[in-house]
Amino acid sequence: MPYDFLLIIGGYLLGSVSTAVVTCRLMGLPDPRTQGSGNPGATNVLRLGGKKAAIITLAGDLLKGLVPSGAATLLGRPELAVAAVGLAAFIGHLYPLYFGFKGGKGVATALGVLFGLNLPVAGLTVLTWLGMALLTRISSASALTAFVLAPVYFYWLSGNPGATGLLALMTALIFWRHRRNIRNLLAGTEPRIGRKKP
Ligand code: G3P
Repeated sequence: MPYDFLLIIGGYLLGSVSTAVVTCRLMGLPDPRTQGSGNPGATNVLRLGGKKAAIITLAGDLLKGLVPSGAATLLGRPELAVAAVGLAAFIGHLYPLYFGFKGGKGVATALGVLFGLNLPVAGLTVLTWLGMALLTRISSASALTAFVLAPVYFYWLSGNPGATGLLALMTALIFWRHRRNIRNLLAGTEPRIGRKKP
C-alpha cells in the first residue's frame, strides 16, 4: 500500500530523534555520545545523569518505536508492514538523519516496536530482560538475551515468517551495535547497571 511507504519514512524520521542527546542537552548533562560508554541510550544516561534523565530517555526511545508501529497496527496494516515500519524507526535510532547517522544500540526502540506489533511478545521480552537484569545486573547481557528470544516468541505466537525475519534482522543489528559490549562480556569487564565504564 502506498501509505505503508509514508509510514516507513515517518518511522525513520521519528526514530532519528535522539532522545538521549536531547534530554542531556535540556538537563545540562554531558553529551552521552562522548562520555561513559559513548552510547546515546538510557543505560549510559543513567551513568551520566541519574534515574530521572534515564527514565525520560527510555520513555522517549520506547515511544519512537511504539508510535509508528502502533499507528500501522491501528490502521489495520498486516504484521509484515507493521514490522517494516517499526524496523524503519529502529534504523532511524541506529543511523539518525539529524545526528550525522551516529546513533544508539536500539534496545528501547526495538522494545517499543514490539509493543506496537504484538503485546504478548513485548511482555515476554520485557520479562526476559528483567529476569536477566536481576540475575546479572548487566544491561547489555539482558538486552542481548531478550532480543535473541524476541523473534522466537514472535514466531511462536504469530507464526508470520516475514515479520519474524524482520525482527531477526533487528536482533542481528542489536548484536552488531553491541560488539564492544560482547567483547567486554567475554573479558568479564562489562560494568553493572548504574556503574561507570572502566
Ligand atoms: O541498550 C544499551 C545497553 O545494552 C548497553 O549500553 O551504555 O552499557 O553500552 P552501554
